[in-house]
Amino acid sequence: MRQQLDDLLSAASERLAAARNVADVEDLRVEFLGRKGKLTGILKGLGRLSPAERPLAGKLTNEVKETLTGKFDEYRQRLATASRAADLAAGAVDVTLPGRRAFGGHTHPVTTVIGDITDIFVRLGFAVARGPEVELDYYNFEALNIPADHPARQMQDTFYIADDVVLRTHTSPVQVRVMEKQPPPVAVIVPGKVYRCDSDLTHTPMFHQVEGLLVDDNVTFADLKGVLSTFLHEFFSPEIGVRFRPSYFPFTEPSAEVDIACVICGGRGCRVCSETGWLEVLGCGMVDPAVYGFVGYDPEKVTGFAFGMGVERLAMLRYGIDDLRLFFANDLRFLEQF
Ligand code: DAH
Repeated sequence: MRQQLDDLLSAASERLAAARNVADVEDLRVEFLGRKGKLTGILKGLGRLSPAERPLAGKLTNEVKETLTGKFDEYRQRLATASRAADLAAGAVDVTLPGRRAFGGHTHPVTTVIGDITDIFVRLGFAVARGPEVELDYYNFEALNIPADHPARQMQDTFYIADDVVLRTHTSPVQVRVMEKQPPPVAVIVPGKVYRCDSDLTHTPMFHQVEGLLVDDNVTFADLKGVLSTFLHEFFSPEIGVRFRPSYFPFTEPSAEVDIACVICGGRGCRVCSETGWLEVLGCGMVDPAVYGFVGYDPEKVTGFAFGMGVERLAMLRYGIDDLRLFFANDLRFLEQF
């Protein structure tokens, strides 16, 4: 039996020395030490020995088993290390290659512009308010002094959800909601989505506006001019020309539209400004006393101004974008430029 064990040990050592990889080592382990392996075969012969011989034979068998187990472990480790080194040397894994760059998102230009507008007005003391996009006819039109027969109510401009429910066509209804909820003084801006049944080069069915409302004692048109001029100079540039032009809105009296000097030609006149040198950017005016009537403010005690601007339009002028639809196409070639 001692002979058998010696033979087994030298056979295993010889075969192990020829093993080329971890899988070879595992095959040999099964062949020699497995449950049906060669060592088990020798162990079965223990039964045939005399009781006196058995303890020594058992001890020898265990020693051989331990020695072999140690050798197998050693070869397995050595070959695993060698194969990793070979892979690296062969360039299968180039550990010096830089990693793939993670795709980094960033804010959409419309979001950026809303943030910039908001920052400027917050610094001037305005708070931010919000209102629903699905709005009652009452807030979108009636309480803003827009009579039932006003052209803005017609089906071609307004998305109707029900007879008295619309997708808001402007952010102005939030003026009414804010004043209903709090007494004067009020100074809020309202950024948000608005909807109109309109679609061409310069109109999309959804776009963004920022509304503004300031109501207090003794607010005058001079305050309106001061706040909006300051805003436009901060948003575009301190030097840009600004003018106020008389206009009409049902919810303000008097009303004005605000122009900036054309950002393309600087005021000399070009195709973008239709040779006028000016670009319209805002609607505004002193809140019409009729609106105060709807919210329970006393028009004898308070005055105020309101304004509304289109976010995409401001973004187009600031970044020199000539197609409104680019904002909504989600084309990365466009978005990654901001
Ligand atoms: N709501 C108007 C629009 O959508 C914009 C506007 C004009 C808002 C004058 C105002 C304002 O608050 O005073 O065209």
